Amino acid sequence: MTPAPSAFFDPAALDIDPDITRASTPDKAFYFDPAAWTMARERVFARSWQWAGGMARLAEPNSLVPIDLLPGCLDEPLLLVRDADHALRCLSNVCTHRGNVLVREPCRAEAIRCGYHSRRFDLQGRMTFMPEFQGACDFPSARDHLPRVPLETWQGQAFVSLSPAVPLQALMAEISARLSWLPIASFVEDPSRSRDYEFDAHWALYVENFLEGLHIPFVHPGLARSLELSAYESELYEHANLQLAIAREGDPAFDPPPGSPDHGRRIAAYYYWVFPNLMLNVYPWGLSLNVVQPLGPRRTRVLFRSYVRDPALLGEGAGGALDEVEMEDETVVLAVQRGVRSRLYTKGRYSPTRERGVHHFHRLLADAMKRP
Ligand code: FES
Ligand SMILES: [Fe+2]
Repeated sequence: MTPAPSAFFDPAALDIDPDITRASTPDKAFYFDPAAWTMARERVFARSWQWAGGMARLAEPNSLVPIDLLPGCLDEPLLLVRDADHALRCLSNVCTHRGNVLVREPCRAEAIRCGYHSRRFDLQGRMTFMPEFQGACDFPSARDHLPRVPLETWQGQAFVSLSPAVPLQALMAEISARLSWLPIASFVEDPSRSRDYEFDAHWALYVENFLEGLHIPFVHPGLARSLELSAYESELYEHANLQLAIAREGDPAFDPPPGSPDHGRRIAAYYYWVFPNLMLNVYPWGLSLNVVQPLGPRRTRVLFRSYVRDPALLGEGAGGALDEVEMEDETVVLAVQRGVRSRLYTKGRYSPTRERGVHHFHRLLADAMKRP
């Protein structure tokens, strides 16, 4: 039977056996119970690091860039600031008077002025001026300044978190070490290759699909021709995992230098996933950065952003036909969205050899959902 939606989601539905050979996948209630969605928003996403765009927009002093953190999910108005001393910070973009959103468009300014009643803030977030408040007691106090939000950078990209469970560098440590020979920060963004995909499925179904190569020969015949699937590997880290794809002869591949653990191997792609919703696909042509944005229990948007290392390799090999592979993935994820609601389906099992990444995701998800 399909359980009725509840006001509270019991995270015991996400009890995942640590032994993959015995484990079952999450109870299907996780994918359509609105209470599970609300819990994931607060316990998973509000505590996670989220991509906030490239740093090029903040190169000049006194740059202000408003962002909407995870639109459709967290919907938090934030402001990225590069001040006159080149210091970078993230502030709330909500006026501490009556809640007006302060900065609507990227701009350069020495101060922030609210367009509603003209309250002013400096670029450190301190309130500096407010008309007609002379008689107000205990004013200004600390709560009249703009709250600061943790911001960190990785390879030229900004990341923010409302309430980080772990430091960003802890999430990225394995990736940075493994790819230390690759100057990712110098890859050049190509906005003409940006894509936003939206579809009617739960965000976690999309992530699960990303995290296994088991489906590649059945869902992606074109991609399968570029890869040595018998050599496909996955590695699990504390907060992230890697799928390592080896190129077939004749297809583009990295040739990692001596000192890299991959030296001597023809790497077609490093497919990294960082909990909960970031994918860093590193191909010989460059980086495809994907962000999975939950828009509700049945709707998801995925951002694709491209940073080019070698334009001559665009369109080739495993990282070539990304649109085609995405459509193939979306088609199967939409079918799973319909199937997982079935009265005749409750949960499934994992391939011990090929679905370790999916099992890892579910274990991290369960941990986050159970943390009060
Ligand atoms: S809401 Fe900003 S000054 Fe009133
Ligand atoms: Fe796929």
